[in-house]
Amino acid sequence: LNLILLGPPGAGKGTQAARLREDFGLAYIGTGDLLREHKESKTELGQRAQEYMDNGDLVPDDLVISMIIDKIEEEGEDGFLLDGFPRTVGQADALTEELEKLGRRLTAALLVDAPDEVVLQRLSGRRQCSNGHLYHVEFDPPKHEDVCDQDGKPLFRRKDDEPDTIRKRLATYHKQTEPLRDYYEERGYLRRFDGTRDKTEVHDHIRATLATLR
Ligand code: AP5
Ligand code: ZN
Ligand code: ZN
Repeated sequence: LNLILLGPPGAGKGTQAARLREDFGLAYIGTGDLLREHKESKTELGQRAQEYMDNGDLVPDDLVISMIIDKIEEEGEDGFLLDGFPRTVGQADALTEELEKLGRRLTAALLVDAPDEVVLQRLSGRRQCSNGHLYHVEFDPPKHEDVCDQDGKPLFRRKDDEPDTIRKRLATYHKQTEPLRDYYEERGYLRRFDGTRDKTEVHDHIRATLATLR
């Protein structure tokens, strides 16, 4: 399986990715996570990406494309799950070209969609640990406040989850990433899922769809 997860911030891409990764043993390539790692370890890429990310803008294509293409070549041989890439038509073209070069085919582009109000509510209550386990203060609270159930690590709030930055990320999404819906629809890869449904329902729906594609 070679999968892309598309959708607005907060629709549940990361949440579904964690489950699909377990189901199918795919190499998970999370663009936001990779960029945040670069930021934290203060690599040159991280330093260049920081300002864009904290503003809710996209990091320039040339920085992101090579980072992801390298990962696909290094880790994605037996199938990959891309979360948060591509996000522009330029990135989508680069991926199409790369897959052609490798003689591989995309299985599907999974669009997990949710309206802006839902996203705002979800992201303003999101908490996570450094291993990427996700919680929501209201919808999915940890057993002990501010501690991860799975590994006891402290939970924190992402820097770009402030309401003003969330709104900016949404605007960026509608302008730059939403056109990819048509891009993948026209090529026959798009599969849509209602991200406002319960997590398990969304997951079941994705699995059922993938079963028809394998
Ligand atoms: P990235 O880290 O990819 O963030 P994002 O796309 O904004 O998406 P999020 O991670 O915020 O949301 P999600 O859909 O994963 O939702 P989650 O599962 O966490 O990117 C961050 C930044 O990096 C970008 O702004 C940009 O600057 C840069 N960047 C990344 N990729 C780039 C690229 N390709 N090119 C250029 N720049 C790039 O869920 C959210 C919350 O809701 C959680 O609290 C969760 O518990 C809860 N939840 C999830 N599902 C449900 C449900 N069904 N019901 C109730 N609650 C739910
Ligand atoms: Zn995410
Ligand atoms: Zn954890």
